[in-house]
Amino acid sequence: MEKEFTNKVALVTGGAMGIGKAVALLLAEKGAKVVIIDKVKDEAAKVVKEITGDAIAIQADVSKSSDVKNTIEETVKKFGKIDIVSNNAGIQRYGTVESTSENEWDEVINVNLKSVYLVCHFVLPYLKKTKGTIVNMTSVQAFATQRNVAAYTTSKHGIVGLTRSMALDFAKDGIRVNCVAPGTTDTPLLKWAASLDPNPERVYKDCADMHPLGRIASPKEVAEVVVFLASEKASFVTGAIYSVDGGLLLPIGGEPKIAEE
Ligand SMILES: NC(=O)c1ccc[n+]([C@@H]2O[C@H](COP(=O)([O-])OP(=O)(O)OC[C@H]3O[C@@H](n4cnc5c(N)ncnc54)[C@H](O)[C@@H]3O)[C@@H](O)[C@H]2O)c1
Repeated sequence: MEKEFTNKVALVTGGAMGIGKAVALLLAEKGAKVVIIDKVKDEAAKVVKEITGDAIAIQADVSKSSDVKNTIEETVKKFGKIDIVSNNAGIQRYGTVESTSENEWDEVINVNLKSVYLVCHFVLPYLKKTKGTIVNMTSVQAFATQRNVAAYTTSKHGIVGLTRSMALDFAKDGIRVNCVAPGTTDTPLLKWAASLDPNPERVYKDCADMHPLGRIASPKEVAEVVVFLASEKASFVTGAIYSVDGGLLLPIGGEPKIAEE
């Protein structure tokens, strides 16, 4: 039976876990052939097993040029083309500019931001042939920030700039480029971040309370928006930043209590 993404080939970075996994599963459910790119081989293989259609996993470090180039060549060799790119791979490290070491700075910028440049750099010649589309994963931390996340928030601001730049440069080729900015999402990354606190359960509760909708997102809720942007339903959407944040960025900081009902 023909599905929404039948005959589409989708490349999903960070597809072994969390939001990327949810994107890979949803695209596969909707008929796409899925290529999961991740540094963690076993988890990526498990996602492939969950998929009934065509799917492969390629182990690669998306911050390394040679890995990315080989991955894209392997994808085209296997499936003949690339229609959709979903850039999700990302890491979090905590620190101010003063406490972040140069190595940590480079690690975060390379995995979160340079990877998007690398994937797009090598994939664009193929996307031009298919008039394909790119969906990048940024964060609410592209618009606002917290204390102690200097490198992460810089990388996420950078993804917005890169998305807009590519959207404009490649609109003439029929290529759409958008990004999604989630609030707190229930993934292994969040579990790891919460585990750094002596009371992880309190971290989850605080995160839920921060969002006006009173909870955090599931990876599937974020994936739904990524898949929408990758679909024909979003055919006139490019250069957009879609917040999926349960209203997290709505309140004005320092709002006087008197204004509350
Ligand atoms: N979870 C959240 O609350 C949240 C909120 C906003 C934005 N995000 C963003 O969403 C994206 C996915 O986050 P998540 O929470 O699902 O994280 P996660 O840690 O649960 O999953 C990230 C995946 O990326 C892979 N990865 C990491 N570094 C890689 C590398 N160098 N090469 C290849 N693969 C690599 C990991 O192995 C993992 O499978 C990230 O870009 C993150 O910044 C997450």
